Amino acid sequence: MDSRQIIVVEHPAAMAAAAAQRLVDRIAHDSRCAVCLTGGSSPEGLYRLLADEPWRGRVPWDRVHWFMGDDRFVPLTDPRSNMGIAQRLFLDRSPAPRGNVHPIPTDTNYPEGAANLYADELQGFYGAEKLDPARPLFDLVLMGLGPDGHVASIYPGSRALDEKQRWVLGVAKAGWEPFVPRVTLTFPTLASTREMLFLVDGAGKRDILRRVFAGGDLPGSRVYSDGALVWMLDRAAAPEGVS
Ligand code: 6PG
Repeated sequence: MDSRQIIVVEHPAAMAAAAAQRLVDRIAHDSRCAVCLTGGSSPEGLYRLLADEPWRGRVPWDRVHWFMGDDRFVPLTDPRSNMGIAQRLFLDRSPAPRGNVHPIPTDTNYPEGAANLYADELQGFYGAEKLDPARPLFDLVLMGLGPDGHVASIYPGSRALDEKQRWVLGVAKAGWEPFVPRVTLTFPTLASTREMLFLVDGAGKRDILRRVFAGGDLPGSRVYSDGALVWMLDRAAAPEGVS
């Protein structure tokens, strides 16, 4: 599929509410569902909303499984941990069963070890070692865009850009702060979703968004989705001509 849809909202609060609605719509079916979360500051408004009514009451907590698209190789208790932030902002404050929260295991010795364990966990959840585009792994994958065009922990020029086989990779050197090693899902794994939803806000992202939409050789231009690909921007981030 993958025809890019761009949605511009007025401000970050409107973005959080619109993203919450999309999330709830994507998991409104009767079977088990899976959401892949993202780090960074852009999803924080959404995470806060999910912890409180009315959104909290709209999430079928028993049926939803929460994964993370990339994480910093630090303990969950470290303020830089993406899953730690998501837990503090909403998962720990929600009725989500513990077994439905799937952090990247950053308590291993090396990022590669964590990547292998997380690949096993994702494959166990999916029930196969090979992704079938007709049967997506996730219902929704949330994404952010770095000021250099990176997505998840896939940076410009990184070998992870061309990974087609492995589901998860260790990243020894981060291309953007915080400069700690990372673990990241690869493009084919992130693409295995009914919807990939980018949340990008602030005037500081306008220039990189312009380059991404112009098709520059950047992770943000190369990332794809087997399902819908939605870029939600606030007005401050939207490049000229995008409304
Ligand atoms: C990370 C993120 C990263 C993030 C972008 C955008 O671990 O750093 O997953 O890819 O999404 O850097 O971050 P902001 O939303 O803070 O701009």
